[in-house]
Amino acid sequence: MSWKTIDDLALAGKTVLTRVDINVPMDGDVVTDTTRIDKIRPTVEDIIVRGGKVVLLAHFGRPKGKVVPEMSLRHVLPALEKSLGRKVDFVERPSRSVIDSLPFDSVVLVENTRFTPMEEANDPEMARFLASLGDVFCNDAFSAAHRAHASTEGIAHLLPSFAGRLMEEELRALEAALGNPQRPVVAVVGGAKVSTKLELLGNLVSKVDHLVIGGGMANTFLVAKGIDVGKSLAERDMAPIALDILTKAKAAGCTIHLPVDVVVAAAFKAGAENKVAAPNACPPDQMILDAGPATVAALTKVFESCKTLIWNGPLGAFEIAPFDAATSNAARVAAALTKAGKLVSVAGGGDTVSALNHAGVAADFTFISTAGGAFLEWMEGKVLPGVAALHG
Ligand code: 3PG
Repeated sequence: MSWKTIDDLALAGKTVLTRVDINVPMDGDVVTDTTRIDKIRPTVEDIIVRGGKVVLLAHFGRPKGKVVPEMSLRHVLPALEKSLGRKVDFVERPSRSVIDSLPFDSVVLVENTRFTPMEEANDPEMARFLASLGDVFCNDAFSAAHRAHASTEGIAHLLPSFAGRLMEEELRALEAALGNPQRPVVAVVGGAKVSTKLELLGNLVSKVDHLVIGGGMANTFLVAKGIDVGKSLAERDMAPIALDILTKAKAAGCTIHLPVDVVVAAAFKAGAENKVAAPNACPPDQMILDAGPATVAALTKVFESCKTLIWNGPLGAFEIAPFDAATSNAARVAAALTKAGKLVSVAGGGDTVSALNHAGVAADFTFISTAGGAFLEWMEGKVLPGVAALHG
């Protein structure tokens, strides 16, 4: 890979502008999941050990170019200090002299980069201003790398730039899963809508050996095959596109796996009375809310026959029991195969990570990406501007 890492540059005495993604979920003033914050620690430590001063650049929420006090990065400061185990100096209006006045062993956090419209516009003036605050640029924000913003892309062209440890880890894992994977490869793609994952499905059929389609998306494929899915969520107008994907998959030698049995219920609510049915036997007044046990058994065989698994999206309505069963059971199979050294498993996307956490198996996967949108765009085969800019 052609990008530089922390090990390739002399950092002693240098101010290192470090783009991180600490866009974390909050409940009031409390960070409810510190994963993204915890994951930047190796980069921060490695820069400090090499004698560099860490200046963190980050966004928080979508303030649309305005100062929105609720989206101030001040709110994440306590969680950041706790995770890093050091004092963090918060700078609302950064300037080189303010940053130079702070000691080398402290970490500096600059206020939300999105408090000006110049950030998302990738305005060259903003990129130049940010670059003037330091000597070198470290991008450790894979999960924001699909955005061509001043602090993710513009700045990388103005300073010697390199990837942080988390960025390195993400890129290596993703390369192992889809760039140059051990075959056969199986991709699991779930979620509600085909329309949001069209590019993804189109890209995957030419890259993977098996494609498992789950969730509401699977219903759209069943409709395309002429099956009546009752009141199930399905994008009936997308049926021709689903057929097209099936044809493309066949031509590319990719086997598509749809549910071979389904769980149906009359209501979308936790604990709703339900039964297992054949995919073509959903009663007209009921809906498909999960894949059934025979589908999980079939997927187990597919997983066992593969060396690499990449997962994005749940197989059913995993947020309400008992319709979380197929997702959780399939995730447990993947986790066990991974633990036994038989499978490399990579997962990403907000819902997917919650589903794997819910199943209690996230720690057993080979790699869980911190990215949502960026993971999806990368799986779609798109160039991520924040990563491309690191190639120089
Ligand atoms: C994310 O949460 O996926 C990243 O922080 C990017 O956020 P955005 O979708 O608001 O650009």
